Amino acid sequence: MKINISTFQKLKGHSKITSITAYDALFAGIFDGEVDMILVGDSLSMSFGGNKDTIPLSLDAMIYHTQAVSKAIKKSLLVADMPFGSYNTNKAALKNATKLYKQGGADAIKIEVNESKIDMVKMLTNNGIATMPHIGLMPQFYRFEGGYKIKGKSKEQKDSMLELALKLQEAGAFALIIEGTKSDIARDITQNLKIPTIGIGSGKDTDGQILVWSDAFGFFDEFKPKFVRQYLNGKELLKQAIKQYSDDIKNARFPNDDESY
Ligand code: KIV
Repeated sequence: MKINISTFQKLKGHSKITSITAYDALFAGIFDGEVDMILVGDSLSMSFGGNKDTIPLSLDAMIYHTQAVSKAIKKSLLVADMPFGSYNTNKAALKNATKLYKQGGADAIKIEVNESKIDMVKMLTNNGIATMPHIGLMPQFYRFEGGYKIKGKSKEQKDSMLELALKLQEAGAFALIIEGTKSDIARDITQNLKIPTIGIGSGKDTDGQILVWSDAFGFFDEFKPKFVRQYLNGKELLKQAIKQYSDDIKNARFPNDDESY
């Protein structure tokens, strides 16, 4: 049975929530049902698009990838990221989130959120768009902050993150992503909220975990954050396979008679 917003929320306190990113139908079809949630993350800007950060990604590109992923999803909850610049005002957020939600086929959208976006979460959910705010380290602020900066280090940051999380729950968020945040504050937020928290680089005490698929399976090696556990040496395996394929052609071993008409 397909996981929806309500069954997803009921996982909190019953079982750890599993999630991964996907950007295309082929990989989404492999991951579907193995994890509770699949995110078409704007990390696709780097992992798929070859960019240095998430900023260049367009709304049209996100719609295209979400459509591709949604065609392969039969079981997991599907969430799609709103790209940088597509939700600067409430008006733009409603227009662009409606477009992504309608055309992409995701169950929910995700936006990076600070205090200034609490009303936006309320407005989107009031319009029937299930919204997952992303707090803590926000990759869309990479250039502005001059790098990826871990959050929740000071007492002020801890207090304001907990306050923000509570306000987002109140505003109608169905779940939160907490990225790059000290484990103790991610745990406190998780314990104080009724909605699920999904962590990335935020310790073991969030309700669930997410990784970018190309990090988890060893295809992206430009940098490796400390929190990534690599489950496959994908790049190395594929390198060997492509070398073997090329070698077989060069040496007239492919195709053979059984592979010919
Ligand atoms: O873009 C992304 O892939 C993300 C997650 C890793 C949380 O935002």
